[in-house]
Amino acid sequence: MQSEFRAVAVTISDTRTTNDDVSGDRLVGCLQEFGFAEVTKEIVRDDIDEIEAILRRLSVDSELIITTGGTGFTPRDNTPEATKRVIERETPGISEELRRRSMDATPMAMLSRGISGIRGKCLIINFPGSPKAINECFDVLKPVLRHALSLIAGNNKH
Ligand code: MTE
Repeated sequence: MQSEFRAVAVTISDTRTTNDDVSGDRLVGCLQEFGFAEVTKEIVRDDIDEIEAILRRLSVDSELIITTGGTGFTPRDNTPEATKRVIERETPGISEELRRRSMDATPMAMLSRGISGIRGKCLIINFPGSPKAINECFDVLKPVLRHALSLIAGNNKH
């Protein structure tokens, strides 16, 4: 891991607060264990404009943003639409594999509409909201994460 890589865990929820943000805390744990130099955490409501604004702001100073929540079918699940507004290049392989491998854990994986993509030098990935999904999805991401971030940073060496 390049020492300068910074990651942010963004919980997207109308109801969670810093005191009961189980998925956000779990995501921070995964990112710290992986070896990011700096890991921070944010919570934002399921409001499309608020999500868009926070993703735009955080993408300036981070190499990775993982969101959790708001990817499902309810009218307030706005995470993929907000992410779409912000990313410049889609990374469908990541989201396809997260969904495909999540099917081993639950058929409900089909109900996550999560997407991912690159804005500038930042990779943005949507995870579902359940605490269980955090570990399941991070395990899928782990083997490619270092290489993905070095490629975005402009380092083509393997
Ligand atoms: N993916 C994994 N790996 N594990 C899970 O528990 N839950 C599913 C799905 N994807 C789940 C998962 C469920 S129940 C839903 S409704 C959708 O993600 C959307 O969740 P979200 O709206 O909290 O993002």
